[in-house]
Amino acid sequence: MFESRKLSQDVTVRVLRLSDASALAGAYVRNRQYLSQWEPVRPEEYYTEAWQAADIAKRLISSEAGDGYPLGLFAGDDVVGRFNLAGIVRGPFESAGLGYWVDSQYAGRGLASATVQMIVETAREELGLHRIEASTLLHNIGSQRVLVKAGFQQIGVAPQYLQIAGKWQDHNLYQIVLHE
Ligand SMILES: CC(C)(COP(=O)(O)OP(=O)(O)OC[C@H]1O[C@@H](n2cnc3c(N)ncnc32)[C@H](O)[C@@H]1OP(=O)(O)O)[C@@H](O)C(=O)NCCC(=O)NCCS
Repeated sequence: MFESRKLSQDVTVRVLRLSDASALAGAYVRNRQYLSQWEPVRPEEYYTEAWQAADIAKRLISSEAGDGYPLGLFAGDDVVGRFNLAGIVRGPFESAGLGYWVDSQYAGRGLASATVQMIVETAREELGLHRIEASTLLHNIGSQRVLVKAGFQQIGVAPQYLQIAGKWQDHNLYQIVLHE
């Protein structure tokens, strides 16, 4: 499931390991300002190796239970992106949520598009999910483009859906149905 895969000459995607905590904290420090308009307000500890190690540990336990998959993009020793397929619910739903970001220095190279398309393929072929959902701020044109290129359709607008940058903000809702 989610084998390590080369996305470009210098960037690989794979499931996170506990030993990635330091590099991940470094990526959040480097991208703190850049991500601040797209993410929830984070506590100061979020930017430390210890916080990231605890978070990876939790996510890996959850992954073993089949609840989600935490992926990282790597360029050498640096983390240059994060993708989460999370909140997998089986039974009559067979659904998961998707969230992501790419390091500002690696934006515009097709990395998000390639990774989301790989996740969609794996969710369909290996996880057997029926659908994936995602949401974007109304003005996040780049993220909307990533989703539409991967086959997602907008299914609505949710008022005050998520607290981003300290404010409850409206979001466009998207889904992709994997099996007709
Ligand atoms: C959104 C994000 C993940 C895109 O990552 P990326 O690797 O640069 O995306 P890609 O290179 O695959 O580009 C995807 C498409 O979006 C377009 N795009 C990217 N940024 C754009 C922008 N600001 N305005 C318009 N289009 C944009 C690209 O041109 C490309 O479309 P194309 O292939 O038709 O030319 C990245 O910009 C990011 O991390 N942003 C901050 C965090 C965030 O928004 N996360 C998603 C929350 S829902």
